[in-house]
Amino acid sequence: MPARLIDGKSLAALVRASLGGAVASLAARGVRPGLAAVLVGDDPASRVYVRNKVLACEGTGLRSELHEFPEDASEGRVLDCLAALNADSRVHGILVQLPLPKGFDAERVLEAVSPAKDVDGFHAASLGALVRGRPGFVPGTPAGILRMLEHAAVPIAGAHAVIVGRSTIVGKPTALLLLQRDATVTICHSKTPDLPAVCREADILVAAIGRAAMITADYIRPGATVIDVGMNRIDSRDEAARIYRGSAEKLAAFDRKGSVLVGDVHPLDVGGRAAAYTPVPGGVGPLTIAMLMVNTVGSRERRPAVC
Ligand code: GUN
Repeated sequence: MPARLIDGKSLAALVRASLGGAVASLAARGVRPGLAAVLVGDDPASRVYVRNKVLACEGTGLRSELHEFPEDASEGRVLDCLAALNADSRVHGILVQLPLPKGFDAERVLEAVSPAKDVDGFHAASLGALVRGRPGFVPGTPAGILRMLEHAAVPIAGAHAVIVGRSTIVGKPTALLLLQRDATVTICHSKTPDLPAVCREADILVAAIGRAAMITADYIRPGATVIDVGMNRIDSRDEAARIYRGSAEKLAAFDRKGSVLVGDVHPLDVGGRAAAYTPVPGGVGPLTIAMLMVNTVGSRERRPAVC
């Protein structure tokens, strides 16, 4: 049976459309939920992600503001900006795009976001609530992964979920969410012996390592559900030729654009092994942004009714 594609783009559109009622009833009271994005430095990928978040706000009826700082900005300036955003009643959600430039103490910056506006869910208070199973902001990518599994009716209770990557923003919170749904969870990392064998145990395999096409057929149990969190831009033709094993069709696509976006899962292998999988692009990425919109609207709705 051919593998089922879990279409993140259309699911993200559904999730965002489901916010329409809440956004309209706030608008009827003259309130627009507002998201402030803070971008430091010139990382091109971060710039694209932030632009997509701002566009998603426009498409969902949210107000957005972008605060940009040069690569050599002082941490103090960024902290001052966060203090002003924390105090601004028109701002209901604040995100600091990661990674921050070298020299920044990311911990200190993330902790400077008010937990009441921490729509990325990276503050220790949000992550602590998640560990305790209490209500709070859940980071967008893990929340999006769960939404995709639910939408695709993938059984979670009793399933063995294997997560490759132990980051604080994806691997660890995804593990906690799956554990809350009664999956048996294994987190793997660079020191895990015989990684392919561990991955082959997975009913649900989540790849969040940031290495293009690393998860090849020998990592995937036939019939597994594969969630690909990777977004690796390949702009070397040799690298693209290696990944696509010389496929003329795929290389023609590379030549048209001069680069290609590849996930952590091998794009030529996954369809022949998995029962269902998320594509790159058009999989987890759009859900991450949709869940950020959900968190921002939720943040406004949870505020005391003072406007
Ligand atoms: N960098 C990579 N993923 C994310 C994310 O979800 N939010 C922020 N703020 N930065 C990121």
